Amino acid sequence: MALTLKSGFSFDYDNLFGEGKVTAADIDECKDALAKAHAAMKVMRDTGFIKAHLSKDGAPEKVYFSKLPYITEENGKLNLNSPASIKRLHAFTEKIRNNVDAVVSLGIGGSFLGNKVLFDVFCGEFWNTWTPEQRKGLPKVYFSGQNIDPRRTGDIINHLKAMAANKQTHGGGKFKVMLMCMSKSGGTLDTMSNFMVILDALKKVDTIEVECVAVTDPNMEKKTLLKQIAVDNGWECFAVPDGVGGRFTVFCEVGLSTAAVIGMDIEKFLEGARDMDKACQNDDIWQNPAMLNAALKVIAYKKYGRNIEVMMPYGDYLKSLSEWYIQLLAESLGKQFDKEGKEVCEGRTPLVAVGTTDMHSQTQQHQEGTLDKVVQFIKVEKWANDLVIPNVFPNVKKLADISGVTMGDALEVARQSNADALKSNKRFNACFTLPEVNEYHLGEIMYLLAMSVAYEGELLNVDAFNQPGVEAYKRIMGPKLQELKAKSHA
Ligand code: PA5
Repeated sequence: MALTLKSGFSFDYDNLFGEGKVTAADIDECKDALAKAHAAMKVMRDTGFIKAHLSKDGAPEKVYFSKLPYITEENGKLNLNSPASIKRLHAFTEKIRNNVDAVVSLGIGGSFLGNKVLFDVFCGEFWNTWTPEQRKGLPKVYFSGQNIDPRRTGDIINHLKAMAANKQTHGGGKFKVMLMCMSKSGGTLDTMSNFMVILDALKKVDTIEVECVAVTDPNMEKKTLLKQIAVDNGWECFAVPDGVGGRFTVFCEVGLSTAAVIGMDIEKFLEGARDMDKACQNDDIWQNPAMLNAALKVIAYKKYGRNIEVMMPYGDYLKSLSEWYIQLLAESLGKQFDKEGKEVCEGRTPLVAVGTTDMHSQTQQHQEGTLDKVVQFIKVEKWANDLVIPNVFPNVKKLADISGVTMGDALEVARQSNADALKSNKRFNACFTLPEVNEYHLGEIMYLLAMSVAYEGELLNVDAFNQPGVEAYKRIMGPKLQELKAKSHA
């Protein structure tokens, strides 16, 4: 059983639905709740209203992520995607092409994870080792700010300095570094500490020219710290709009400015998201990928105790998609209180896995451990530049037997075998299929997952768009840092 869209994207739920799994009767029992959730999604699309959603400051806040796939003048008024903003992103690509040697993208959480997906999927592991010609004049890209780790930050600085020295030695002039500091709130310590350390270090190097770009809340009346610094220094700015929470920002200028740096097809990415949004407007649950995915997962959780979702793409560069999803699911649904303020301690727990790697580590637990998981596979139908396994050792039967098979096909046989084995032991699993890895299908799946958690929030009656829990440690950490500073000055 699968829901397949015109694009070829599909959701195979055969091992999650039927006898001994989530049943048609279970779905029927949730009929009213599903209709209510679907109606709430329509209101969200039309007006941005989500019942009981409050911002960090406790004020009612609109939710606009579902508007992001649409490039319209009207959306431009809300700092969402408009023809002018997309044009500006294209101009940004051309501005840095053949002009910037390296970009350091600084951010954490929603200001990092989606960008890392785009980079991994479209650039792969060796982008930074390619020549400028191979990168079509686009810069090397490094990520920082996603931890307060002195060793790695020091490594980045030293690496940039070494490249600058090398450029100078070869008569190439100054090494141009662009620091793209991304923070919706504009003051996140992890991001800002790295930003200050790197900026300060690079400014002291004669062979390096540094330029800064800020990606933050664009509000000019109540400027974020980062916005204020950017305005004071005349830096170029991109927007993290009101109503778009960190984990949904891959579709706004957080993700799209990264897309511009690596020369991705931005319109295709948004088109995939847009077509998925249209599919998710279908009133029929069996034709609506987000409603169906959310319903099956919530029932598997509430009725059958499957409170863990193992997100397991098959393919190395898709691992960061799983890491992005961890934040999306964990921050959206892990809530202590429901929309009426009743204590519920709700939410499924996400886990990162990647096939085939984790078949040799986690699969034992998935196959025989606690019956608390849904394993959600992601499969790629057709790999670009697939490789055939050659017959290098014809006398070794075990190896000769796999020769002539492509690595992509072998990968899929491994995934299918894992799914069959899990099924044979009553282990719930499902599979999303991407016909191929490209901007369009990436837009489809990322949007589907975002819309699914929005449905889940409604089904579980929790606010999927706030994250009060992450403020708790921040309230403790701020004063502790002050104390540390006072002690170090004593
Ligand atoms: O989803 C969220 O809102 C958070 O995880 C944020 O993305 C993260 O804390 C970074 O915040 P900011 O972009 O304000 O620096």
